[in-house]
Amino acid sequence: MGQGTICAAGWQSNPPNPPLLKGGKGGIIDFYWEIDMSDTILDVINLKKYFYHSAGLFSFLKKEKSIIPAVDDVSFYLKEKEILGLVGESGCGKTTVGKLILRLIEPTDGRIIFNGMDMQNLQKSELRKVRSQMQMIFQDLDAALNPRMKVKDILKEAITVYEDLDYYQVNKRIAELMNQVNLKKSKLGNYPDELSGGEKRRVGIARVLAVKPKLIIADEPTSALDVSIQAQVINLLRDLQEKLGLSYLFISHDLRLVELISNKVAVMYMGRIVEMGLSDRIAHKPMHPYTNILWSSLTEGGDKVISPGLSWQVFDFERPVTGCRFHPRCEVFKSRGNPKECIDLQNEPKLTQIGASHYVACHFPLL
Ligand SMILES: Nc1ncnc2c1ncn2[C@@H]1O[C@H](COP(=O)(O)OP(=O)(O)OP(=O)(O)O)[C@@H](O)[C@H]1O
Ligand code: SF4
Ligand SMILES: [Mg+2]
Repeated sequence: MGQGTICAAGWQSNPPNPPLLKGGKGGIIDFYWEIDMSDTILDVINLKKYFYHSAGLFSFLKKEKSIIPAVDDVSFYLKEKEILGLVGESGCGKTTVGKLILRLIEPTDGRIIFNGMDMQNLQKSELRKVRSQMQMIFQDLDAALNPRMKVKDILKEAITVYEDLDYYQVNKRIAELMNQVNLKKSKLGNYPDELSGGEKRRVGIARVLAVKPKLIIADEPTSALDVSIQAQVINLLRDLQEKLGLSYLFISHDLRLVELISNKVAVMYMGRIVEMGLSDRIAHKPMHPYTNILWSSLTEGGDKVISPGLSWQVFDFERPVTGCRFHPRCEVFKSRGNPKECIDLQNEPKLTQIGASHYVACHFPLL
């Protein structure tokens, strides 16, 4: 075993950070075992982000604010050169996880260990250095690129943020980046508005690569793209990952896409991870009723449909549920005659190991 071998469910940090997990009996995770964590690049431990807001016409008069537990005790780890897919429907907290990892927003609780460094303890100058090693491909394609800058200037700005290079070195690097993302040099003089969706996405990826990151958080990198262009972007990301030895947290609402590119998949529901395991396993033997719904809602072509009999009303963070937060939509809950375990306030299901590298948070997993 290498460094950092004492682990709870593998959600554990490397030294020098002492184990901080609330896991074990009574915590969010109900099991312990040992795993070699020496090549772990990212360790997310009991991460929480609660947003507080008051809604309605006279909200400013209200003293009480509602809580949105956008990320509610999330733990996972990512090894070097590994791709972890984070999947779940709109609003379940995926982007918030990405922003927390990059410390673009502050967590309510929990820890993020990147390359053995605790992100919360970093000084400004250290954080700046670490930021060059972890980058985010943002979900909103148009907001991600400055519309008043040409492609060449966008890349130049990114290249020179962390490196002091001369004119020739910068141009050489720009040419390399354009080559890496398969964009013609003729596009260097274009503004983002003059590019297609796929080309814009490639510029976004080139800009992220410009700082030579180790970890990329790719947040819905294929959103707003045609299916054929989606495939090109996925292939490009996969090629780059192999060539440059990158690690990805790949965020998407599309389980099919996530399964295609990722080694491991974590399924998120209402701020929590409800199932996690190797992609193959999650695809062919989902054990959480929610993951099962995600699969059964895909047609052969991959489009999302609402299957008859499945409850597809969107969850509401502001109407908290007791017990398992999925129970109002769960077919297993209904078919078993509303078992009390599922609605017991003190008994929200914890992620529990159920097979080799397979974890499920459900009292009645599908077998
Ligand atoms: N700054 C904020 N202030 C208040 N609430 C927020 C804020 N950012 C996100 N939220 C809320 O937190 C929840 C999770 O948002 P998030 O953007 O992480 O979801 P998501 O899974 O990325 O969704 P999508 O697939 O639509 O991108 C949502 O209910 C959202 O409205
Ligand atoms: S714990 Fe109960 S309600 Fe929750 S997913 Fe499992 S069966 Fe459904
Ligand atoms: Mg999002």
